[in-house]
Amino acid sequence: MRGMLSRQPEKAVRRLLLRAVVLFALLLASDVILVAWLFFHDFDQRAVRSKMIEAIEAARAMAGEISAELAPGGAIDHLRVIEKRAVLGRVIDRYTARLRVVDFVEVLTPDGRLLFRKSRRREAVANTGQAFGGAAPPSPDAPPAPAIPRVPGRTFALRGVTRDQVVEVPLAAQTGAVRVGLDPNALQAEFERQRRSLVLQLLFGGAVSLLLLAVAFLYVLRMVHRVRRLEAEAQRADQLAALGTLASGLAHEIRNPLNAMNINLQLLEEGLAEGVVDDESLSLLRSSRAEVQRLERLVKDFLAFARPASLQREEMEVEEIVRDVVAFLRPQFASCGVELDFEQEEGTPPVRIDSGQIRQALVNILQNALEVSSKGKRVLVRTGPTERGEARIEVIDEGPGIPPEKRERIFEIFYSEKPAGSGLGLPIARRAVDAHGGRIELESAPGGGSLFRIVLPPAVAGEPGEVDAGAVPAWRETS
Ligand SMILES: Nc1ncnc2c1ncn2[C@@H]1O[C@H](COP(=O)(O)OP(=O)(O)O)[C@@H](O)[C@H]1O
Ligand SMILES: [Mg+2]
Repeated sequence: MRGMLSRQPEKAVRRLLLRAVVLFALLLASDVILVAWLFFHDFDQRAVRSKMIEAIEAARAMAGEISAELAPGGAIDHLRVIEKRAVLGRVIDRYTARLRVVDFVEVLTPDGRLLFRKSRRREAVANTGQAFGGAAPPSPDAPPAPAIPRVPGRTFALRGVTRDQVVEVPLAAQTGAVRVGLDPNALQAEFERQRRSLVLQLLFGGAVSLLLLAVAFLYVLRMVHRVRRLEAEAQRADQLAALGTLASGLAHEIRNPLNAMNINLQLLEEGLAEGVVDDESLSLLRSSRAEVQRLERLVKDFLAFARPASLQREEMEVEEIVRDVVAFLRPQFASCGVELDFEQEEGTPPVRIDSGQIRQALVNILQNALEVSSKGKRVLVRTGPTERGEARIEVIDEGPGIPPEKRERIFEIFYSEKPAGSGLGLPIARRAVDAHGGRIELESAPGGGSLFRIVLPPAVAGEPGEVDAGAVPAWRETS
């Protein structure tokens, strides 16, 4: 039974954890998507820009070297260009070997005419037709190179990859310019490569995160299992401790009458051995029987406490029960010289109760009241409604009262201040009233005695009247 009970919440915990994992997975997925978007949404532009910056740096460095080779005197000497072709080619090769996306490198005059051009695609020095092919210096009326806006180092378009990915930096002392053109196809291929590796990195990161999530899930699940096991163990230990307390209390209660009976029987045995059977023997027997009866009552009460029957509720007036109990106990009170009165206020709501159990609770409280009342005192039972519309039964005695610090203890099982008390009367009463959703309150009575108040919830119209198993703890039902 307990196993079944604890399996239920375990399922719930697993469901809860699963929901958490799904939520985390969704968060992770959106995180990856967000990161991917941040990476890729203007990836092309950023990539072009970074390639352009690389190209500008390379062009600046080349311009420095080219200026040193071609125009040591401040002006470009065309003959020198022809002479230095091979050197220029090597300078350019050195830079373009590192910059894989370069399409061509050109050297221009200040007015934009082409002096020298090296293109990767043709893999050879291309001297722009006649200008270099015929080793002739370019004539002043040679067609100008395509017009490039002259903003040194900043002449690039940034909208993706286009035909004119070109940077231009001036040579020293305004003797011309170096122009580097990037190859759109090479750029595209380079971006594709970068993009692929980024996607792979993202996928890898996502997969690792998912794996970590799964590991965390398994770990938490294990922790939950462990906590549950520890809880179950602690609960079992608690139950065993409670059982131990109960058992030692019961053993203590049983030992007293057994001791008394043992002594009685021993004395009887001695008397019988000597052949003496007198009045004393008879009284020994009688007191032994009384002890046996006490034991029987103890066992009965203990069982009533430990294993109360399930509630058989029916709707009734509390006055009915009180009148019955008062009539039943009055002779006993009278024999002790104690008056037992019943007062009834108007407006007590009907209740739905197990009359046997509430009767037992009331009897136990009245029994205590009688036990603290000396001859000539009075015990009053009073019924009426509470301010909240519940039914109340009050038992007021003129005894010594109960100091506040003891008001909880007296409801503990086996707590008794009487020589022959079982300490079960009030625990049984409280358990019965609790099972009805009610409570027992305790106050000092005005005259110095005690006031015990049983409060019961009012009957609700339309409730079923049969066995109410829900009011009794499940593990006590097996009888
Ligand atoms: N009306 C009362 N006035 C004073 N003390 C009381 C009263 N009712 C109960 N008690 C105290 O509470 C203790 C526990 O009561 P109970 O559970 O009925 O066990 P028992 O009657 O066997 O001692 C009593 O021993 C007594 O000390
Ligand atoms: Mg009692």
